[in-house]
Amino acid sequence: MDPSTASDVLTVNGGAALSGEVRVRGAKNLVPKAMVAALLGHGTSVLHNVPDISDVRIVTGLLEAHGVSVTRGDSTDTLIMDPASVERASDAAVEAHAGTSRIPVLFCGPLLHRLGRAFIPDLGGCKIGDRPIDFHLDALRAFGAVVEKRPEGLLILAPERLRGTHIRLPYPSVGATEQVLLTAVLAEGVTELSNAATEPEIVDLIAVLQKMGAIVSVHNDRVIRIIGVDRLGGFTHRALPDRLETASWACAALATAGDIRVVGARQGDMMTFLNVFRRIGGDFEVDDNPGDPSIRFWHSGGPTHALALETDVHPGLQTDWQQPLVVALTQAQGLSIVHETVYEQRLGFTEALNRMGAQIQLYRECLGGSACRFGQRNFQHSAVISGPTKLHGAELTIPDLRAGFSYLIAALAAQGTSTVHGISLIHRGYEDFEGKLSALGADVELGAAR
Ligand code: EPU
Repeated sequence: MDPSTASDVLTVNGGAALSGEVRVRGAKNLVPKAMVAALLGHGTSVLHNVPDISDVRIVTGLLEAHGVSVTRGDSTDTLIMDPASVERASDAAVEAHAGTSRIPVLFCGPLLHRLGRAFIPDLGGCKIGDRPIDFHLDALRAFGAVVEKRPEGLLILAPERLRGTHIRLPYPSVGATEQVLLTAVLAEGVTELSNAATEPEIVDLIAVLQKMGAIVSVHNDRVIRIIGVDRLGGFTHRALPDRLETASWACAALATAGDIRVVGARQGDMMTFLNVFRRIGGDFEVDDNPGDPSIRFWHSGGPTHALALETDVHPGLQTDWQQPLVVALTQAQGLSIVHETVYEQRLGFTEALNRMGAQIQLYRECLGGSACRFGQRNFQHSAVISGPTKLHGAELTIPDLRAGFSYLIAALAAQGTSTVHGISLIHRGYEDFEGKLSALGADVELGAAR
């Protein structure tokens, strides 16, 4: 969407404490991948708890381009995927999705197994660093695939059935781990993946694959072992709740001195975040009701505390929690330090917060924790935040998904009016966020203020 169109702009009048209830559905970082897994099966797959976000629409389009029928169930958050008529997509149909998301690269393994050929468009996704796919391509080659780089995308061929292999990832990449899983389950023989990522969304993807008939075991020390099988069936699965969206609402409650119950949220996947939230001065209460679990987050009323944080792969502090926490830390007493170790350029969004009155200084050094991959590479990947600072409204342009939602939190915590451009990026991962904000008492309106 053109960032200048009225529907891509949100006017936010800040100052109100957000209060009430919102619902989170299945995780953005699991649902599209479970949809890709449906392509591996010979039966129909049913996925429950699917959010209405643009990443789901992109994967639906790509599945349909490959002959998979995708329909909604009786409940609108259920998707039914039937891969009985998988066929080669036209290159044009695939290219139509260029630059929209990073998920298309995960189609490689399933398409190679089904058709012996995969054409992958240029990838998109958030601009938070280089985001190369070298680990993915090295893994596919290790399985026996041949990769041809073309100007319009990647053509990947499997001259014969892919073979299980031993792979050691240079870094525990979420996407590359998923690439290996989605490829190894139907490869001939055993695959052993070392230095794998083990995020909750990956464990949920493994649960999906196991339901389909795959044999996957997760061992200590980041080793995943997959015994390839000849055929997989469909699955019925309820996607795990979105722990990243949940944390965003928690930070909105903290930064606006509000009180938000996030229905659908689950404690187990969020323990690291919950510890940090409590240490800053936020409070929470977990309701384990199995039918409809929830976590209520609120500001405890006293001063909030500065903290030193370091992002890391799971079970460390998830990088997608960093941006909303930074906004909350602008309101904490003292100096906070944030060391981003997963992406080299995920602190650039703080420049706009400074324009709103925050005091955040970026550093190239690894501050406040262990030395990381970026320490010697000239990236500004550490931040020192002095707080508390009064924020005021500003004109903001959203650079990426998580920073985008964090700008909304800052605008809501600020005095005065902010005009936020590029909100369509937030639709990639936050279902109906405008409706949810209004329900919480936020004064927001689509379009620029007249
Ligand atoms: N990396 C490489 N080469 C590769 C793959 C990754 O160098 O081939 C590097 C990346 O550049 C990055 C690090 O490894 O520095 C980690 O990247 P990872 O592969 O783990 O990230 P991803 O799979 O591309 C997913 C989520 C991200 C989330 C990260 C980390 C999806 C669609 N995206 O990305 O989510 O931040 O894992 O947990 O699952 C978001 O939701 O806003 C988002 C960006």
